[in-house]
Order: sequence, then structure tokens, then C-alpha cells
Amino acid sequence: MFTGFLEHGIIRRAMDRGLIDTGIINIRNHAAGRHRVTDDRPFGGGDGMVMKPEPLASAIREAANHSPDALTVHLTPQGRVFDQDTARELTEIDHIVLICGRYEGIDERICETLVDRELSIGDYVLTGGEVAAMVVIDAVTRLLPGALGGDHSSDTDSFADQLLAHAQYTRPREFEGKAVPDLLLSGNHKEINRWRNESAMIRTLLKRPDLFTERSLTDEEIQILKKWQMEIGRIIKINGPNE
Ligand code: ADE
Repeated sequence: MFTGFLEHGIIRRAMDRGLIDTGIINIRNHAAGRHRVTDDRPFGGGDGMVMKPEPLASAIREAANHSPDALTVHLTPQGRVFDQDTARELTEIDHIVLICGRYEGIDERICETLVDRELSIGDYVLTGGEVAAMVVIDAVTRLLPGALGGDHSSDTDSFADQLLAHAQYTRPREFEGKAVPDLLLSGNHKEINRWRNESAMIRTLLKRPDLFTERSLTDEEIQILKKWQMEIGRIIKINGPNE
């Protein structure tokens, strides 16, 4: 599952540049017997299968041999929800072991003894932790200095400042009757920055107003909100019912 992901785009380039290195351990190679069984029925009965502790422990210990100081992260819907702040936090950690569970989960004794942290990529259930691990690797890698290449930085990403990113346009200037805002063609960088800040604010207010409750506003942002407040007041006065 990881081959395509690791061999393309920014992740591949980060590997080539030595910004990240990855290793994959197949749990089957740690399972005993001719059938190399990695799962078993749950004690107490019930649907589904549980990942057996012995092969998992052996696989995690193999990973720990490569990097004894690694943070061991179990990808599970029960974990804390992974977000941009967590991605930033993980950029500070040199070695991370990502445990990708399958079936109904992994034996609890592994969680108690060999797992440092549980992460979920959202409130839904995947068929396994692999896609979640790729999400974590992707989000963390692109934050590493130099990963995006050239002068491109993640400073203007959505969530960089607890706001969504501003609107973007590229050529042609007019597409199916819709023109690019004139100001973006003006070359006036101060005005362009002001427009972008305002665009980020509008988009956040309309699409993710919850983000505003997690941060305080700058003076410029308060001015932007007051401007809209006046504009909204004006529209209501013109179009609203007369009292
Ligand atoms: N494994 C299954 N579902 C998951 C999720 N939402 N996040 C992380 N790992 C998972």
C-alpha cells in the first residue's frame, strides 16, 4: 500500500533529499507457523478478529532496534484527532514508529506496554491504519524545511494561523465569464496582502467559524470584521422589513 505513496511527488523528493527516511515492516514476517497468522478471535466472543500480540510486539521491537528513541504511535479511531498543530509537533521528533492496525483492533496489552500515543485522522472508521499513517507522513513531511522546494513555504497554508487559506487564482484572467479580482493584477503588494488577509477571514467565517473561537484577533482583523458588520447593517437597513 505504501509503495505508490512513497514513490511520488513531495514525499519522494523529501526522501531523495534525505529530509525523511522510511522503513516498512510487514507483520507477517513476525508471525509464527506455516500460515503466519496475525489475528485471532476476541476473548469473550463477538464479531471480527483482533491482532495477536506476539507478532505485533516482535514487529514493534524490530522497529525499535532501528531507532530506540522512537515515539510509537498507534493509528486508531480511538486516538486524539490529528490536526495541523499535531503535525507541527511531530516535525520535532526524529524517529516515529507508526503502528497500522487491522481488523477490530490490536490486543490491549500492546497498547498498554508498547504504544506511546494514539492518533486518529478523523471520526470515521477505516479498514486499517495504513491510510491514516500516510496522512500523518504526508502532513508532517510537507512542514519540514525545504520539503516544498524553492521559496514555497507552508506559512500561508490553511491552519498556519488558525485560519483557512485565502482564495487563489491563476491564468486565464477570465474563465467562463468570471474575471480574476482586479486588485490581484495591480502589482500593489501591500494591497494584495490586505486582500488576501480579508479573503482568509471571509472564508474562515463562512466555512469554519469554529476556528475563530480558538484564537484572538489582531487589530487588522477586528477592522475587517467591523467593515463587514457595517456592510451587513447597511444591507439589512436597505432590504429589511420596516419597523
Ligand atoms: N484506523 C481505522 N480508522 C482510523 C482512523 N479514523 N484514524 C486512524 N486510524 C484508523
